[in-house]
Amino acid sequence: MAEVIVLDSETAAGTLAAASIRALIARKPDAVLGLATGSTPLSVYAALAASLAEDPLDMSRVRGFALDEYVGLPTGHPESYRAVITRDVVVPLGLDPANIRTPNGDVATLETAGIDYEAAIFAAGGVDVQILGIGQTGHVGFNEPGSSFASITRIKTLTEKTRVDNARFFDSPDQVPIHCMTQGLGTIRRARHLILLAFGEEKADAIAAAVEGPVSSSKPGSVIQLHPHVTVLVDEAAASRLANRDYYAYAYAHKYAWQGI
Ligand code: GLP
Repeated sequence: MAEVIVLDSETAAGTLAAASIRALIARKPDAVLGLATGSTPLSVYAALAASLAEDPLDMSRVRGFALDEYVGLPTGHPESYRAVITRDVVVPLGLDPANIRTPNGDVATLETAGIDYEAAIFAAGGVDVQILGIGQTGHVGFNEPGSSFASITRIKTLTEKTRVDNARFFDSPDQVPIHCMTQGLGTIRRARHLILLAFGEEKADAIAAAVEGPVSSSKPGSVIQLHPHVTVLVDEAAASRLANRDYYAYAYAHKYAWQGI
């Protein structure tokens, strides 16, 4: 089962995740990070950047694969996930941009973009740690409800709900692309460690469904129940609909130090 850790702030969750990622890079300098966009993982990137500023680590060989990308945004569009990952992750962590890939959302090459991305992840030896947020529809990456648990990187059509949720990053809702390229749930399942973060009451239903609901492609986040190493970092509000919340706290309080997250 996923390890659920309820923390009192986003900052605390970011610090915990960043410490785990830092330890990974220290023991594997060419570690492969699975990078998520959205507001949720920002505390992780900020904590890791702060830790590196205080105590530098060689980041020159770290590799990264973004989870998803919009289709059809012009190159360099500030809300393309390539631009977001560059701004929020590559620059603050001092990563080499040549080591970081995002799915290719160029309309001209969509037919082969998914399989090319899968091949690149495979050639890199797979993702060591995948950071994940979750959408209110229960999507991870852009795997909307109904996505196959075996899916690979491919084009998806965004739900209206997701387009409305993401409209805050654009000048108007109709500027949010209709399509995206996203790693599949099968791709995500192959990452060796998943760290899923969620904050706020509006994520409580999605988290309850992912952690405790039936495993169902109607709730794509429930894919975590099929994975052997998952850490769910949530605040009280996002944890508020978990039936076994007390047990998770009890289990975390009684962990052995060697277990890490
Ligand atoms: C987008 C991203 C997801 C992210 C979700 C939630 O749809 N493709 O990877 O998890 O938004 O975003 P936020 O973290 O801003 O709530």
